[in-house]
Amino acid sequence: MKKFMLAVLMVFIGVSVSEASNILIAYFSRSGNTQKVAEYVASALSSDKPDIFRITTAEPYPEDYNETTRKAQEEQNNNARPVLSGDVEDMSKYDVVFLGYPIWWGTVPMAVYTFLEGYDFSGKRIIPFNTHAGSGKGRSISDINAAVPDAEVGEGFAVRGADAESSGASVAEWVNGLNVISGEPADTGTETKQPENEQTENTAGSSSSSSSGGCGMFSGTLLLCAIMIPCRKFAGRSEE
Ligand SMILES: Cc1cc2nc3c(=O)[nH]c(=O)nc-3n(C[C@H](O)[C@H](O)[C@H](O)COP(=O)(O)O)c2cc1C
Repeated sequence: MKKFMLAVLMVFIGVSVSEASNILIAYFSRSGNTQKVAEYVASALSSDKPDIFRITTAEPYPEDYNETTRKAQEEQNNNARPVLSGDVEDMSKYDVVFLGYPIWWGTVPMAVYTFLEGYDFSGKRIIPFNTHAGSGKGRSISDINAAVPDAEVGEGFAVRGADAESSGASVAEWVNGLNVISGEPADTGTETKQPENEQTENTAGSSSSSSSGGCGMFSGTLLLCAIMIPCRKFAGRSEE
Protein backbone atom coordinates (compact mmCIF):
# COMPACT_ATOMS: atom_id res chain seq x y z
CA MET A 1 0.00 0.00 0.00
CA LYS A 2 2.88 2.30 0.84
CA LYS A 3 4.31 1.69 -2.63
CA PHE A 4 0.97 2.53 -4.19
CA MET A 5 0.71 5.80 -2.28
CA LEU A 6 4.27 6.67 -3.27
CA ALA A 7 3.48 6.02 -6.93
CA VAL A 8 0.39 8.26 -6.73
CA LEU A 9 2.52 10.92 -5.10
CA MET A 10 5.16 10.76 -7.83
CA VAL A 11 2.53 11.04 -10.56
CA PHE A 12 0.97 14.10 -8.90
CA ILE A 13 4.33 15.78 -8.45
CA GLY A 14 5.31 14.95 -12.01
CA VAL A 15 2.13 16.45 -13.44
CA SER A 16 2.39 19.52 -11.27
CA VAL A 17 6.03 20.24 -12.11
CA SER A 18 5.52 19.66 -15.83
CA GLU A 19 2.92 22.44 -15.81
CA ALA A 20 5.48 24.86 -14.39
CA SER A 21 6.76 27.68 -16.55
CA ASN A 22 9.41 29.75 -14.85
CA ILE A 23 11.36 30.17 -18.07
CA LEU A 24 11.32 33.18 -20.38
CA ILE A 25 12.95 33.33 -23.78
CA ALA A 26 13.55 36.99 -24.61
CA TYR A 27 15.26 37.85 -27.86
CA PHE A 28 16.08 40.71 -30.18
CA SER A 29 16.27 39.97 -33.89
CA ARG A 30 16.30 42.40 -36.78
CA SER A 31 16.48 40.04 -39.72
CA GLY A 32 15.31 36.69 -38.33
CA ASN A 33 18.47 34.70 -37.54
CA THR A 34 18.27 35.05 -33.77
CA GLN A 35 14.54 34.53 -33.93
CA LYS A 36 15.14 31.15 -35.60
CA VAL A 37 17.53 30.12 -32.83
CA ALA A 38 15.03 31.35 -30.21
CA GLU A 39 12.41 29.11 -31.79
CA TYR A 40 14.78 26.14 -31.52
CA VAL A 41 15.42 26.97 -27.85
CA ALA A 42 11.64 27.09 -27.29
CA SER A 43 11.23 23.81 -29.08
CA ALA A 44 13.93 22.15 -26.94
CA LEU A 45 12.13 23.42 -23.83
CA SER A 46 8.64 22.65 -25.10
CA SER A 47 7.79 20.37 -22.19
CA ASP A 48 8.36 23.34 -19.91
CA LYS A 49 6.14 25.66 -21.96
CA PRO A 50 8.48 28.66 -21.84
CA ASP A 51 7.13 32.13 -22.48
CA ILE A 52 8.58 33.98 -25.46
CA PHE A 53 9.11 37.71 -25.70
CA ARG A 54 10.52 39.56 -28.68
CA ILE A 55 12.45 42.70 -27.77
CA THR A 56 11.50 45.37 -30.30
CA THR A 57 12.28 49.07 -30.49
CA ALA A 58 9.59 51.74 -30.72
CA GLU A 59 11.44 53.09 -33.74
CA PRO A 60 12.20 50.21 -36.10
CA TYR A 61 15.64 49.88 -37.64
CA PRO A 62 15.98 50.69 -41.36
CA GLU A 63 15.42 47.94 -43.91
CA ASP A 64 18.76 48.82 -45.41
CA TYR A 65 21.66 46.91 -43.81
CA ASN A 66 24.21 49.71 -44.13
CA GLU A 67 21.83 52.29 -42.72
CA THR A 68 21.19 49.99 -39.79
CA THR A 69 24.87 49.51 -39.13
CA ARG A 70 25.34 53.30 -39.16
CA LYS A 71 22.44 53.84 -36.78
CA ALA A 72 23.62 51.04 -34.49
CA GLN A 73 27.13 52.45 -34.36
CA GLU A 74 25.78 55.89 -33.52
CA GLU A 75 23.69 54.38 -30.71
CA GLN A 76 26.69 52.53 -29.35
CA ASN A 77 28.90 55.64 -29.49
CA ASN A 78 26.24 57.61 -27.62
CA ASN A 79 25.60 54.79 -25.13
CA ALA A 80 21.95 55.14 -26.16
CA ARG A 81 19.01 53.26 -24.68
CA PRO A 82 16.50 52.90 -27.52
CA VAL A 83 12.90 52.94 -26.29
CA LEU A 84 11.28 49.52 -26.49
CA SER A 85 7.80 48.95 -27.83
CA GLY A 86 6.62 46.33 -25.35
CA ASP A 87 7.07 45.02 -21.82
CA VAL A 88 7.28 41.64 -20.16
CA GLU A 89 4.09 41.46 -18.13
CA ASP A 90 5.51 39.95 -14.95
CA MET A 91 9.27 39.39 -14.87
CA SER A 92 9.15 38.29 -11.24
CA LYS A 93 7.69 34.89 -12.13
CA TYR A 94 10.76 33.82 -14.12
CA ASP A 95 13.80 32.17 -12.56
CA VAL A 96 15.51 31.53 -15.88
CA VAL A 97 15.75 33.97 -18.77
CA PHE A 98 17.21 32.87 -22.08
CA LEU A 99 18.46 36.05 -23.75
CA GLY A 100 18.97 36.03 -27.51
CA TYR A 101 20.51 38.76 -29.66
CA PRO A 102 22.67 39.32 -32.74
CA ILE A 103 26.15 40.70 -32.25
CA TRP A 104 26.16 44.35 -33.26
CA TRP A 105 29.50 46.07 -33.41
CA GLY A 106 31.10 43.44 -31.24
CA THR A 107 28.47 43.25 -28.51
CA VAL A 108 24.74 43.32 -27.77
CA PRO A 109 22.48 45.82 -29.57
CA MET A 110 21.79 48.81 -27.32
CA ALA A 111 18.13 47.77 -27.14
CA VAL A 112 19.28 44.76 -25.12
CA TYR A 113 20.73 47.14 -22.54
CA THR A 114 17.36 48.89 -22.39
CA PHE A 115 15.78 45.51 -21.74
CA LEU A 116 18.33 44.44 -19.10
CA GLU A 117 18.05 47.74 -17.24
CA GLY A 118 14.26 47.70 -17.34
CA TYR A 119 13.73 44.83 -14.91
CA ASP A 120 15.07 43.39 -11.69
CA PHE A 121 17.16 40.37 -12.64
CA SER A 122 18.76 39.82 -9.25
CA GLY A 123 18.94 36.15 -8.36
CA LYS A 124 17.78 35.11 -11.82
CA ARG A 125 19.71 32.91 -14.17
CA ILE A 126 20.34 34.56 -17.54
CA ILE A 127 21.37 32.24 -20.34
CA PRO A 128 22.65 34.18 -23.35
CA PHE A 129 22.61 32.96 -26.93
CA ASN A 130 23.49 34.91 -30.04
CA THR A 131 23.97 34.92 -33.76
CA HIS A 132 26.81 36.68 -35.55
CA ALA A 133 28.67 36.95 -38.82
CA GLY A 134 32.15 36.14 -37.58
CA SER A 135 32.62 37.66 -34.12
CA GLY A 136 31.32 34.71 -32.11
CA LYS A 137 30.04 36.04 -28.80
CA GLY A 138 32.14 39.19 -29.12
CA ARG A 139 32.22 41.12 -25.82
CA SER A 140 28.58 40.34 -25.17
CA ILE A 141 28.93 38.04 -22.19
CA SER A 142 31.10 40.37 -20.12
CA ASP A 143 28.89 43.30 -21.13
CA ILE A 144 25.75 41.46 -19.98
CA ASN A 145 27.50 40.53 -16.72
CA ALA A 146 28.32 44.18 -16.14
CA ALA A 147 24.76 45.27 -16.92
CA VAL A 148 23.14 42.79 -14.50
CA PRO A 149 25.74 42.09 -11.79
CA ASP A 150 23.19 40.49 -9.47
CA ALA A 151 22.15 37.85 -11.97
CA GLU A 152 23.87 34.56 -12.68
CA VAL A 153 24.94 34.92 -16.31
CA GLY A 154 25.79 31.80 -18.30
CA GLU A 155 28.64 31.40 -20.75
CA GLY A 156 26.38 31.68 -23.75
CA PHE A 157 25.99 29.92 -27.07
CA ALA A 158 26.90 31.41 -30.43
CA VAL A 159 25.56 30.45 -33.85
CA ARG A 160 26.67 31.96 -37.13
CA GLY A 161 23.73 33.77 -38.69
CA ALA A 162 24.17 31.82 -41.90
CA ASP A 163 23.80 28.59 -39.89
CA ALA A 164 20.77 29.66 -37.86
CA GLU A 165 18.27 27.73 -39.96
CA SER A 166 20.21 24.46 -39.65
CA SER A 167 21.19 24.87 -36.00
CA GLY A 168 18.22 23.03 -34.48
CA ALA A 169 20.12 19.92 -33.40
CA SER A 170 23.07 21.77 -31.87
CA VAL A 171 20.77 24.22 -30.10
CA ALA A 172 18.74 21.32 -28.66
CA GLU A 173 21.94 19.59 -27.51
CA TRP A 174 23.11 22.78 -25.81
CA VAL A 175 19.75 23.40 -24.12
CA ASN A 176 19.52 19.81 -22.92
CA GLY A 177 22.98 20.09 -21.38
CA LEU A 178 21.90 23.04 -19.26
CA ASN A 179 19.58 21.01 -17.00
CA VAL A 180 17.26 23.97 -16.94
CA ILE A 181 14.11 21.94 -16.52
CA SER A 182 15.31 20.26 -13.34
CA GLY A 183 16.72 23.58 -12.13
CA GLU A 184 20.26 22.27 -11.72
CA PRO A 185 22.92 24.85 -12.58
CA ALA A 186 25.20 23.58 -15.33
CA ASP A 187 25.62 26.17 -18.05
CA THR A 188 28.20 25.16 -20.62
CA GLY A 189 28.32 27.65 -23.44
CA THR A 190 29.94 26.52 -26.64
CA GLU A 191 30.50 27.71 -30.16
CA THR A 192 28.98 25.87 -33.07
CA LYS A 193 31.64 27.05 -35.48
CA GLN A 194 34.80 29.10 -35.51
CA PRO A 195 34.14 32.76 -36.35
CA GLU A 196 34.69 33.72 -39.95
CA ASN A 197 34.86 37.11 -41.53
CA GLU A 198 31.57 37.70 -43.24
CA GLN A 199 28.47 39.76 -42.77
CA THR A 200 25.47 37.73 -43.83
CA GLU A 201 21.91 38.14 -42.76
CA ASN A 202 18.62 36.38 -43.27
CA THR A 203 15.42 38.25 -43.77
CA ALA A 204 13.04 35.87 -42.12
CA GLY A 205 12.08 38.01 -39.14
CA SER A 206 8.54 38.25 -37.91
CA SER A 207 7.30 39.19 -34.53
CA SER A 208 6.08 36.81 -31.90
CA SER A 209 5.27 37.09 -28.29
CA SER A 210 3.20 34.91 -26.09
CA SER A 211 2.59 34.28 -22.49
CA SER A 212 1.70 31.28 -20.46
CA GLY A 213 3.11 29.81 -17.31
CA GLY A 214 2.38 29.38 -13.64
CA CYS A 215 3.75 28.68 -10.21
CA GLY A 216 4.41 24.99 -10.58
CA MET A 217 7.12 24.67 -7.94
CA PHE A 218 4.89 26.31 -5.38
CA SER A 219 1.81 24.31 -6.28
CA GLY A 220 3.98 21.18 -6.42
CA THR A 221 5.15 21.81 -2.87
CA LEU A 222 1.60 22.41 -1.65
CA LEU A 223 0.46 19.25 -3.36
CA LEU A 224 3.34 17.36 -1.82
CA CYS A 225 2.33 18.54 1.68
CA ALA A 226 -1.34 17.77 1.02
CA ILE A 227 -0.47 14.21 0.06
CA MET A 228 2.35 13.57 2.53
CA ILE A 229 0.28 14.39 5.63
CA PRO A 230 -2.46 11.79 5.04
CA CYS A 231 0.20 9.40 3.75
CA ARG A 232 2.18 9.65 6.98
CA LYS A 233 -0.95 9.10 9.03
CA PHE A 234 -1.84 6.14 6.88
CA ALA A 235 1.67 4.71 7.14
CA GLY A 236 1.73 5.31 10.87
CA ARG A 237 -1.46 3.34 11.39
CA SER A 238 -0.33 0.37 9.33
CA GLU A 239 2.88 0.17 11.32
CA GLU A 240 1.11 0.35 14.65
C1 LIG B 1 24.15 46.86 -37.04
C2 LIG B 1 24.82 45.54 -37.23
C3 LIG B 1 26.07 45.33 -36.71
C4 LIG B 1 26.69 44.08 -36.80
N1 LIG B 1 27.89 43.89 -36.22
C5 LIG B 1 28.44 42.64 -36.26
C6 LIG B 1 29.67 42.39 -35.60
O1 LIG B 1 30.28 43.24 -34.99
N2 LIG B 1 30.17 41.12 -35.67
C7 LIG B 1 29.51 40.12 -36.34
O2 LIG B 1 29.99 39.01 -36.35
N3 LIG B 1 28.35 40.35 -36.96
C8 LIG B 1 27.79 41.58 -36.94
N4 LIG B 1 26.60 41.80 -37.56
C9 LIG B 1 25.92 40.67 -38.22
C10 LIG B 1 24.83 40.09 -37.34
O3 LIG B 1 25.30 39.79 -36.04
C11 LIG B 1 24.28 38.78 -37.93
O4 LIG B 1 23.91 38.97 -39.25
C12 LIG B 1 23.12 38.24 -37.12
O5 LIG B 1 22.93 36.89 -37.43
C13 LIG B 1 21.84 38.99 -37.40
O6 LIG B 1 20.84 38.48 -36.55
P1 LIG B 1 19.30 38.80 -36.73
O7 LIG B 1 18.88 38.22 -38.06
O8 LIG B 1 18.66 38.07 -35.61
O9 LIG B 1 19.12 40.26 -36.67
C14 LIG B 1 26.02 43.04 -37.50
C15 LIG B 1 24.77 43.29 -38.10
C16 LIG B 1 24.18 44.51 -37.97
C17 LIG B 1 22.83 44.77 -38.58
